[in-house]
Amino acid sequence: MKKVKVGIVGLGFMGTTHWGVYKGLKNAQVVALADVDAKKRRGDVSAVVGNIGGGDNSKPLDLTGVTVYEDARALIGNADVDIVDICVPTPDHADIVCAALAAGKHVFCEKPLCRDATQMKRIVAAAKKAKTFFNVGLCVRAWPEYRHACEYFKSGKAGKMKSATFKRISPSVDGNAWQNWFMDGARSGGALLDLHVHDADEVNYFFGMPKSVTAVGATGIVSKGGVDHVVATYDYGDGTLVMAEGGWAAAKGTPFEMSFTIVCEKATLKLDASGYHIYPVKGKPVTPKLDVKAGPTGWHQELAYFVNCVARGVKPEKYQTLASVEDTMKLVFAEERSVKTHKPVRI
Ligand SMILES: NC(=O)c1ccc[n+]([C@@H]2O[C@H](COP(=O)([O-])OP(=O)(O)OC[C@H]3O[C@@H](n4cnc5c(N)ncnc54)[C@H](O)[C@@H]3O)[C@@H](O)[C@H]2O)c1
Repeated sequence: MKKVKVGIVGLGFMGTTHWGVYKGLKNAQVVALADVDAKKRRGDVSAVVGNIGGGDNSKPLDLTGVTVYEDARALIGNADVDIVDICVPTPDHADIVCAALAAGKHVFCEKPLCRDATQMKRIVAAAKKAKTFFNVGLCVRAWPEYRHACEYFKSGKAGKMKSATFKRISPSVDGNAWQNWFMDGARSGGALLDLHVHDADEVNYFFGMPKSVTAVGATGIVSKGGVDHVVATYDYGDGTLVMAEGGWAAAKGTPFEMSFTIVCEKATLKLDASGYHIYPVKGKPVTPKLDVKAGPTGWHQELAYFVNCVARGVKPEKYQTLASVEDTMKLVFAEERSVKTHKPVRI
């Protein structure tokens, strides 16, 4: 089988997570790595920490057959690489995405797409111009429970949505990242941009774009100047209540929570620590069987899918389109404005 050859840029929490996923794919091979940190370039990932999932980083990675670079541009120049997979801090996504697309590479870029609207314009223009494929790691769309719930809802089986709540609460990520960049609000965008973007994307995925958003946030609980906890309500102008809450300031050791409750006319769809269940208004609760062939997490699903699309030359639009990614980013940027102004922001 011809393998799709991958170059990973940034070998931190997400880079090592992607490394582990590619290792399990029969049709993919990591052939190149780039990282500014000399320890990581030797495969030493012992300092890498995450807030959910992630592999055992205590042993060095076996970099046999992998060409290692300091500079992302040198990796992009490697003719062997089919996919450039970008896992560097958010403000650095735009330059590397644009360079890789301009060089004719397929690009997978971690979420959030970028730090601000100016960077987004550059990326969107580059992706529209490119003949290669581009996907963003908004992995929750590919997370089996969320995907099932969204498909069930969109099939009409649950009836009309009346209220929906999405929640993502993480133990503090202070000290987790390279240069502790999450704790610098100007770089990471705080929990609002970095963590809660997943649920803003779910709101967009399930219900489309709202007419306006109102967000309130607590700034600087653990980070310098970042919105560390946010609650947003999305107005669809139809009497429904859609809400998403995200924060990364819980005490270290607090279990990571990702959950939703979607109350519809005919059923309530619910994910919490007890699992994912559908509670019909009439009839017994159901625990759906999920499609986890590609793996249990959205990271497994999204990367297996992207690699397959590149291998087959099929445009990767199952989980997202460039327009849906752009819309979700507009939504979180609007939330940033709403937190600052204490006013609703029209979308
Ligand atoms: N999808 C998810 O669930 C998820 C989870 C966590 C983080 N992320 C995203 O992934 C990205 C990376 O986050 P992380 O947690 O892995 O951060 P991290 O700090 O753990 O890792 C970043 C890595 O990039 C390297 N690096 C920094 N600048 C570089 C450059 N210019 N060129 C090459 N290497 C460079 C660092 O040395 C480090 O190894 C962020 O955009 C973050 O928001 C996504």
